Formats: sequence, structure tokens, C-alpha cells
Amino acid sequence: MSGYVLHAVGVGVRFGGVRALTGVDLGVRAGEVCGLIGPNGAGKTTLFDVLSGIRRPDRGRILLDGADITRRSPVWRARHGVRRTFQRQQLFGRLSVADNVLVAQEWRGGGGGPAADLLALPARRARERARRVRTEQVLADCGIAALGTSYAGGLPVGQARMVEVARAVADPPRVLLLDEPASGMSAPEREQLAAVVRRLAAQDGCAVLLVEHDVAFVMDLCTRVVVLDLGSVLAEGDPAGVRADPLVREAYLGSA
Ligand SMILES: Nc1ncnc2c1ncn2[C@@H]1O[C@H](COP(=O)(O)OP(=O)(O)O)[C@@H](O)[C@H]1O
Ligand SMILES: [Mg+2]
Repeated sequence: MSGYVLHAVGVGVRFGGVRALTGVDLGVRAGEVCGLIGPNGAGKTTLFDVLSGIRRPDRGRILLDGADITRRSPVWRARHGVRRTFQRQQLFGRLSVADNVLVAQEWRGGGGGPAADLLALPARRARERARRVRTEQVLADCGIAALGTSYAGGLPVGQARMVEVARAVADPPRVLLLDEPASGMSAPEREQLAAVVRRLAAQDGCAVLLVEHDVAFVMDLCTRVVVLDLGSVLAEGDPAGVRADPLVREAYLGSA
């Protein structure tokens, strides 16, 4: 057993003549925060698209708990705890922040279907209450409790990114894929984000895979770092080892 919750095995993706990913092997374990770094165009977002089911790979497989889910839809994966945020934000701009988080929660049916919803039976109302309580808790955890009634569409980018994170964790995820979540965030927002991610991994055993350009942020937050370059894994290891790797310095870090 690999010990990976989510595992990309030999994944290849081509866009016409461009080989975006070539034979990528990358897994993430429960309770770890794994950083995915690399230059623009390295294939990080494409890998997230394949892991979350938005794009079918030309080659290779995606495993969840060792089972092949390569052909499963994004919705199926989300229902099974694989959640992501997007490099380009995807919020419901005309809904409030609280409603964005509310609708991100899975409706766990209790039988009775839409009729029971319409009749607002006590069990239905109890679930609705539970979802509102959970929404408040998630907003507080993410440090955006004060924004609950604001329209999501009018938020500055850093706050909007935090709302995306709140949506992704509204139902506790088993795997969380974060694509450049800290870009546009202020220093305090970054700290809040790091705290949310650490807590998810340490307390809930969530497997986190994080793409981020801020190398210092990645090195500080992640327990393992994978470097992607030209569609393949260039290096992998603990933050100190990756930072010292001459290949990585040449391809990506420069003199950092
Ligand atoms: N939809 C697409 N159509 C054509 N080429 C794409 C598409 N998406 C990404 N690419 C190409 O695939 C490569 C990897 O892109 P991407 O995964 O976005 O990299 P990263 O997120 O690391 O910056 C780049 O060369 C990019 O131009
Ligand atoms: Mg990208």
C-alpha cells in the first residue's frame, strides 16, 4: 500500500502539441500538507484538473484509497471528499458569503424527498438549522465571520479567496486541493489561511495539496514539497532538502 489517500499514477496530458504532464506520479497522505511548486506552465493546474476530475488524462490513473477513480466525475469525487479551489475564483457573486458556504454543504437526505422539504417537516428544519450553525462555524474558523451578509461578488480578492476556502471545507474534506489560495491575500489573511490548513490536516486528518508561488509560505506550511517542471516531477522531499536541491534552484528558485 502506498499510504496515499489520493494518488496520481503515471499521468499524462497533452494539449495538441503541448505535453502539459508527462508520467507524473504524485500522492498525498492523510494529515499531511504537501506543497506543489514550479514555474508558470509547469502543469500544476492541469494536474489539479485531473485530480479533481475536470479533465481526463491521456495516460495514467487516479486512485482514491487505492481504488481507480479516473473515470469518476468531479461531483462524484467531491461527494467522496475530494475538494478544490480554483486559481480563477468561482464564487456565486450575487449570493451572500454565508449563502455561498451554505450551498456548498451536501444535503444529506433523510427520506421523503422534495415533499418533505416543502412540508418543512421537523427533521428537515433541524438539518437546515445544523447547516446554518455549521456555516457560522466555518466562517469563524476562516476569520470571515464579519463578512457573512456581504455579497461575495463585491469582495477584495484576498477575502474572496478565503470564501472559496470556506466553501471547500464546509463539509469536512478528506482531500483538499488549493490552487494558489494565498495570491492576493494580505499577510494576516495568509496567516489565517495557514492556520485553517494546519488545523484541517492535524485535527481532521485531511490530506492537503497546495499550489503556491510564495515559496516562503510553502516552505513554512508544508511538511513535504513536490517540484513540477515542464510537466514532470523534478524533485520531492522535505522543505529544507528541496530548497537546497541544485536542480530546483536552477529551474525555479533562482537565487532564493
Ligand atoms: N486548456 C488548455 N489548452 C491548451 N493548453 C493548455 C491548456 N491548459 C494549460 N495548457 C498548457 O499546459 C501547460 C501547463 O499549464 P498549467 O497546468 O496551467 O500550468 P501551471 O498551473 O503550472 O502554471 C502550459 O504550457 C499551458 O500553456
Ligand atoms: Mg496554475
